[in-house]
Amino acid sequence: MEQLLQQIEQYKQEIAGIVPNGADALEAYRIRFLGTKGIMKSLSAEMKNVPVEQKKAFGQVLNEFKQLAESKYEDWKNSLGSGTAGKANAIDLSLPGDTLPIGTHHPITLVRDQIVHIFGRLGFSVAEGPEIEDDWHNFTALNLPENHPARDMQDTFYIHQQPDWLLRTHTSSVQARTMEKQKPPIRIICPGRVYRNETISARAHCFFHQTEGLYVDENVSFADLKQTLYFFVQEMFGKDVKVRFRPSYFPFTEPSAEMDINCRICGGSGCSVCKHTGWVEILGSGMVHPKMLENFGIDSNKYTGFAFGMGIERICQLKYRINDLRLYSQNDVRFLQQFTGAV
Ligand code: PHE
Repeated sequence: MEQLLQQIEQYKQEIAGIVPNGADALEAYRIRFLGTKGIMKSLSAEMKNVPVEQKKAFGQVLNEFKQLAESKYEDWKNSLGSGTAGKANAIDLSLPGDTLPIGTHHPITLVRDQIVHIFGRLGFSVAEGPEIEDDWHNFTALNLPENHPARDMQDTFYIHQQPDWLLRTHTSSVQARTMEKQKPPIRIICPGRVYRNETISARAHCFFHQTEGLYVDENVSFADLKQTLYFFVQEMFGKDVKVRFRPSYFPFTEPSAEMDINCRICGGSGCSVCKHTGWVEILGSGMVHPKMLENFGIDSNKYTGFAFGMGIERICQLKYRINDLRLYSQNDVRFLQQFTGAV
């Protein structure tokens, strides 16, 4: 036992005296001390010769020595910069820190927030409604007659178990819900997801996003509608934007108009987005149909209003030149990352 302890002491001193150098010397050290036929192994083998009452003490000494021999090996190896441990420990404090990828807002969210913000400055507040709607709020209250083509199975997702329920086809249903519970003055903006039974392609999708607007008060005129929407597109696309209104038809507005802006993609020279006309339709609008006001007990002799509805994807397409509707829902980070810091 005495001899063994002395021997270990000597080895310790030897190790302390080693100045680490090349990989070959390190390997020789490993074989001599830590190898399968090395010193560590043969010392452990001595354990069986140690008297029982000294086994514990010897075990401790042996353990300490083993740790010393191993940590020498690790330090030596790291100082050579080899192996994974070597790399991990080779810290270069002058390197810039690792940047963690941060999330981005989805372009639909960005544009939706911007729309809400612009109308917010005009006094419109956000109203929301359910995506699973009933026939009344999506169609009947909006003056869409029983035989209107929009009610066709081709356009609307109906819910089998509940024939009166459907996935809303437009955010105009929130107009209906608001007029049901609120009396004029009403000034709301309703962003949300809508559904239509379309085959998915670059130009159509079974769900997309709209923002509805509704303003009902005394003396609201078509001039107010035009000026409000003109202000909106100027804020959204810049002061140089040109607009035109075309007469149109919606069952819940009279008169109705669609608004076009000059194509932001080609600048008017003609492209596939504007179908070579230089103009792109961005929204439907009109004066709220008196019948609709009456449906909700609002006196149509006293009050008038305007409403409009736009597709957020379309605004997004013109703002960021996104040419395929499917990109919005594919969750491809290469697409989404491009909106880091975008406004
Ligand atoms: N709801 C119409 C659509 O989805 C848009 C619209 C809204 C038109 C409000 C006029 C007034 O196409």
